[in-house]
Amino acid sequence: MDAPMPLQSVDAVWAAFATQEGMSDGEAVDIWTHQVQTAELLARQGEDDEMVVAALLHDLGDGRVSEADHAEWGAALVRPLLGERVAWLIATHAESKRYVCTVQPAYYDTLSPVSQRTLAKQGGLMTPEEVRAFAAHPWADDAVRLRLADDAGKDPQRPLPDPAPFRAALQRVAAARAGL
Ligand SMILES: [Fe+2]
Ligand SMILES: [Fe+2]
Repeated sequence: MDAPMPLQSVDAVWAAFATQEGMSDGEAVDIWTHQVQTAELLARQGEDDEMVVAALLHDLGDGRVSEADHAEWGAALVRPLLGERVAWLIATHAESKRYVCTVQPAYYDTLSPVSQRTLAKQGGLMTPEEVRAFAAHPWADDAVRLRLADDAGKDPQRPLPDPAPFRAALQRVAAARAGL
């Protein structure tokens, strides 16, 4: 996988995200709607801005590079602008599916057919060593909550939320980084 040129501004991130409207990866909603729904679920749970923004952008690589590379590739796009935690959560969202399917076997049955198919391409179930390493990461619980919202954010019946609050969250995360 060639690392992408990182996006330098909130406008550039928003433009890349906007092009995913109408882009399909075979799920019941387009990739843009899927990410907005995932972000909305986490915002409603009272998650912090970095979690909401990671949810909003977690599939930025989807439809652009291979399934196996889409998480890392999307993370590399936003790491300088949005920081390590957002990038790690994006990079890990396929790994966290492997993790949750391994530690909660019944969870696999709740995945969409597309998500069940891609699990195999993403490495299938984790080994005990992989489970231990994942669980030991300080952001592992965040990644699991993002994962659960990811699977719930594919509902064609749900009215589309206003994306403006998510752009505002994106702006706050970038501004907080710029102020470091
Ligand atoms: Fe994904
Ligand atoms: Fe997703």
